[in-house]
Amino acid sequence: MADGTNAFDVKLRCATLHDAERIHALVHLHRDELVPRPMGNIVENIDRFLVAELDGELAGCAAYQIWPEIGDPLKATVELQSVAVRAPYRRRGIGRLLVKGVMERVAPFRAKELMVLTLTPEFFASIGFREIPKTHIMHKLYAGCINCTKHANPFTCPERAMMLELG
Ligand SMILES: CC(C)(COP(=O)(O)OP(=O)(O)OC[C@H]1O[C@@H](n2cnc3c(N)ncnc32)[C@H](O)[C@@H]1OP(=O)(O)O)[C@@H](O)C(=O)NCCC(=O)NCCS
Repeated sequence: MADGTNAFDVKLRCATLHDAERIHALVHLHRDELVPRPMGNIVENIDRFLVAELDGELAGCAAYQIWPEIGDPLKATVELQSVAVRAPYRRRGIGRLLVKGVMERVAPFRAKELMVLTLTPEFFASIGFREIPKTHIMHKLYAGCINCTKHANPFTCPERAMMLELG
C-alpha cells in the first residue's frame, strides 16, 4: 500500500459496547449499501460484531446472524451482515480479513454455509462466494427483507444473493 500498511497491521477482535457508537456511524455512512441499523439494534447484537482496528481507529466491521430456518436445520446457515471498511482503508485485505474472522467465529456452531445479500458481488466472489437464486433464502426474504424501506419487492432489489460453503 502507498502508506506501507496492510491487513497484517490490523487488529481483528470481537466488538464491545465501547465500539457501538463507532459501528453505528460506520454503518450509517454506508446506508446506501448496507441495511440501516439503529443504535439499539447494534447494542443488542454487539456480540455478533467483529471490528478491525488500525492505529486505534475503527477501520471496519462485520456482523453475522444464524438462520436455522434456511437449508439443513441441523447445520446453520449464517448471514454476513454490516460488512464495511472505511474508504481510506480499502483494498488492503481488511474486508477479507473481517469475513474470514466471521468464518472462524461461527465455526463452533458447525455452520454449513455463509450467505450474503450484496451490491458488491465482486468482493465476495474474490473470497469464493457464488451467486444463488434468492428463492434459496425465502425465509430471509420474509423475515428480513420484508422490513426494508428501500425496495417494495426483494426480487426487484438489486442486491445479489451469494453463498459460500464452509468446510
Ligand atoms: C466491500 C468492502 C467491504 C471491501 O473491503 P476491502 O477492505 O476494500 O476489501 P479487500 O481489500 O479485502 O478486497 C479483497 C478483494 O475483493 C475485491 N474487491 C474489493 N472491493 C471491490 C470493489 N469495490 N469492486 C470490485 N472488487 C472488489 C478485489 O478482488 C480485492 O482484492 P484486490 O484488492 O487484491 O484486487 C468495502 O469496499 C466497503 O466497505 N464497501 C462499502 C460497504 C459495502 O458495500 N459492503 C458490502 C455489503 S454486503
